[in-house]
Amino acid sequence: MLSYQHAYHAGNAADVHKHALLAVALEYLARKDKPLTYLETHAGRALYDLAAPEARKTGEAAAGIAVMAPWFAPDHPYSRALEVARRKGGPQAYPGSPLIASTLLRPADRIVLAERHPQEVTALRRAMPAADVRAADGPSLVLSIAPPQPRRGLVLIDPSYEIKTEFRTIPEFVAKLRRKWPVGVLAVWYPVLASGAERPMVERLAGLDGDALSSEVRFAPVRPGHGLIGSGMWIANPPYGLETAAAELAERFAGSGPRA
Ligand SMILES: C[S@@+](CC[C@H](N)C(=O)[O-])C[C@H]1O[C@@H](n2cnc3c(N)ncnc32)[C@H](O)[C@@H]1O
Repeated sequence: MLSYQHAYHAGNAADVHKHALLAVALEYLARKDKPLTYLETHAGRALYDLAAPEARKTGEAAAGIAVMAPWFAPDHPYSRALEVARRKGGPQAYPGSPLIASTLLRPADRIVLAERHPQEVTALRRAMPAADVRAADGPSLVLSIAPPQPRRGLVLIDPSYEIKTEFRTIPEFVAKLRRKWPVGVLAVWYPVLASGAERPMVERLAGLDGDALSSEVRFAPVRPGHGLIGSGMWIANPPYGLETAAAELAERFAGSGPRA
């Protein structure tokens, strides 16, 4: 059984990077008056409580969204999702990626969420009772659906990298998915680690054919010696304008504290 629980990490600096880019990408995609599909391979529970013992134990949100929220104007799509989470769960609530997507997408858009941990599946269904939640292995599910209907859309691939082989299997999955769904926007999150264990995966992604955007930011480790020193997003077929938003976000991170 997997032991990773995102409740310990929700709202950390990596989530801010990932979720802000996701929100901007979805807002751009939703500007076109055509329905789209949003898929997630590793959905998590959609609604987190930053006052819960898990979040307080690591202090990651305190060094993340608690200090970074003012970077985003109230009408920024990420701020809008934060507001929706707080209306649902109170002032200490934080939106996971499925809630960000449901905030920004329209009724005609399709959302399919895969999550494998039974406790997270239950919480996800509670937070988003109308969503199409599948208790399944995310990559296999998405490959079985692709190309989805509607064909326009985005998949967020956000593993915990708890299983070290994921650094090899995720780029293999992305390459297959790209062949099955060439027009899909494929967004892969990865950790930037002090050990550099993610670099071979980043190189494999960079070597794939087609248009892609890479956004990497660094931040101070949340505790001395903590291995997570940054956050990366690799996005195939990035929506027009996302590159500018990614550069602005990177500047914010660069100006926010000690760099590695
Ligand atoms: C990093 S968390 C997801 C966070 C979420 N995407 C967000 O940004 O709010 C990774 C999640 O993937 C789940 N998971 C791990 N392996 C999985 C698999 N093979 N298929 C589906 N879910 C999986 C874990 O239980 C965990 O909830």
